[in-house]
Amino acid sequence: MTGVPAAGSAILEVSDLWVGFPSYREQTLHALKGIDLRIEAGEMIGLVGESGSGKTTLARAIMGLVPPPGVIERGRVLFNGRDLSAQSDAARRSVLGRELTMVIPNPRAELNPVLSVGRQISNIAFYHLGVSRQEADRIALDMLRAVHIPDPERRFNAYPHELSGGMAQRVVIAIALVCSPRLVISDDATSGLDVTVQAQVLDLLQTMVREKGAATLFITRDIAITAHFCSRIAIIYAGEVVEIADRRRFFARPGHPYSIMLLAAFSHNPALRARWTRAEEIAGATPSTGCAFASRCVRRQTRCLNEAPSLRPLASGHAVRCHFPVEAQA
Ligand SMILES: Nc1ncnc2c1ncn2[C@@H]1O[C@H](COP(=O)(O)OP(=O)(O)OP(=O)(O)O)[C@@H](O)[C@H]1O
Ligand code: SF4
Ligand SMILES: [Mg+2]
Repeated sequence: MTGVPAAGSAILEVSDLWVGFPSYREQTLHALKGIDLRIEAGEMIGLVGESGSGKTTLARAIMGLVPPPGVIERGRVLFNGRDLSAQSDAARRSVLGRELTMVIPNPRAELNPVLSVGRQISNIAFYHLGVSRQEADRIALDMLRAVHIPDPERRFNAYPHELSGGMAQRVVIAIALVCSPRLVISDDATSGLDVTVQAQVLDLLQTMVREKGAATLFITRDIAITAHFCSRIAIIYAGEVVEIADRRRFFARPGHPYSIMLLAAFSHNPALRARWTRAEEIAGATPSTGCAFASRCVRRQTRCLNEAPSLRPLASGHAVRCHFPVEAQA
């Protein structure tokens, strides 16, 4: 098994990553525009953004699997110091599933319907860890126990359709964690579950990744969830990171108007919601030269239309891509 990595070492380094989807006749759609992101051992980073902002594209690029016709136009991704997109399929396969794993929603679609869930976990251990079949089965049973599947000996032989959605998602987590990966990417993994089950599954994911010493990139559209589960928050808008900060700092002093709009959208305070969602009504196309958020921003000024803001530090570990960030008083 992979040992628990030392805290403070970079597991993932994404530098100036641009990914484009060329389209016939039209201009290339730049799904990611200069993403910089570093993830250290044991960190749980929440990547939050609305639909189409580039979250899954980033996850795929990290795995070295940008879906065609997408291409990495610039920049690089280093996982454990290696560029997975430059590896052979076989070399990449041996990293994915063992050192770098992914949890996605709709677990029943991800699981093999004609293989018992215990066997599916056991197969991963057998294939990646080079242990005997008997040892792989024992590891699989331990994992079913660890993810709190009731009556694990019996459930070992159950098929995916015999499990509830929440239980199937736990099996997917067991598969993702059985080889003690260094990085787990969770892409909207619990969005199909009801709120209580979602909280249980996320609790479990958090505990398991901590125990295994893995880092996590936790992708979601729901900023509220990240307040409970993440150590750092990165907000992505139209393919750019617009704000990044430690969780405490982020929720105490969000600086980007879009972050505040997201927080307001999930807030129960109607006044706050009304104030910031008003931005949705602001007319006008996004200027090609200025800030990508300008057409929706309640704080925009002339400068925003003419000059694209860069990601600038607001405080230690806190950066915001905005000419006029919201700077709360202490
Ligand atoms: N295979 C593809 N071909 C063409 N364009 C694509 C492809 N995959 C993604 N895109 C485009 O890239 C942009 C980012 O998509 P992506 O799937 O990464 O968003 P997302 O943040 O994961 O959204 P969601 O929350 O809905 O999952 C979108 O504009 C999308 O249309
Ligand atoms: S740069 Fe201007 S338009 Fe963009 S988010 Fe900041 S205030 Fe709003
Ligand atoms: Mg997605």
